[in-house]
Amino acid sequence: MTNTDYQSDTIRDVVPDHLGARRIVVLVSGNGSNLQALIDAQSHDRLGGGEIVAVISNIADAYGLKRAHEAGIEAVALPHREYDSREAYDGALIKVIERHEPDLIVLAGFMRILTPRFVQRFLGRMLNIHPSLLPAYQGLNTHARALADGVASHGCSVHFVTEELDGGPVVLQAELQVSADDTMETLQEKVRSREHLLYPIAVQWFLEGRLQFSPDGAKMDGHLLPEHGMRLSHADAAEELDEEFDEES
Ligand code: GRF
Repeated sequence: MTNTDYQSDTIRDVVPDHLGARRIVVLVSGNGSNLQALIDAQSHDRLGGGEIVAVISNIADAYGLKRAHEAGIEAVALPHREYDSREAYDGALIKVIERHEPDLIVLAGFMRILTPRFVQRFLGRMLNIHPSLLPAYQGLNTHARALADGVASHGCSVHFVTEELDGGPVVLQAELQVSADDTMETLQEKVRSREHLLYPIAVQWFLEGRLQFSPDGAKMDGHLLPEHGMRLSHADAAEELDEEFDEES
């Protein structure tokens, strides 16, 4: 063993891996308001020491890419239309993501069905946010479906991504009470503001090593979470967000 080898081994022994900034890659397809919430949390040191190192979009003119650019983050357009198949696209996407050596992949309005190969590659370190209280309303048009059903409560969920669409272990949910005068727009607005509250918290927990994926469900501080993860009540979220809240409703 040379002197240099010995020194580098020693340094590796005394500097734990987690001291470097944890690297986050965010995938978006559109507006990127959740991305913005993560950027803002990072700039206020509320992202568990995480750094968003790249934002990738399958839509070249996604506003999320502009947000990334403005925050000084590498913004990569990888249009799916330029690939013949879902497999070919996801293969290219894996390559671009891995170039950034992420600890965590965050889906923030990434409107693509993912291939099993892609999901398996990042299993346990890929989160998504979905606008419903999963397992209710997987898929699209969640607000319209919730309104049509006349549900009393709705919300959003952060979950680990598995091969089942919107079906991976739930980490965190925020609930809101649906009132008689809610419309698609008001519901969307209330859900969106809760998403912006939840996502940075979930990312922070993951990067701090508190939140883990297991095939039986998400684990927090080593404990298996219930099927719906941890849940923020309507009242608590309303207070955090300075929303008007009628105790009687
Ligand atoms: C959010 O409603 C999220 O739940 C869903 O896609 C939407 C993305 O919105 N997965 P934005 O692009 O972050 O504004």
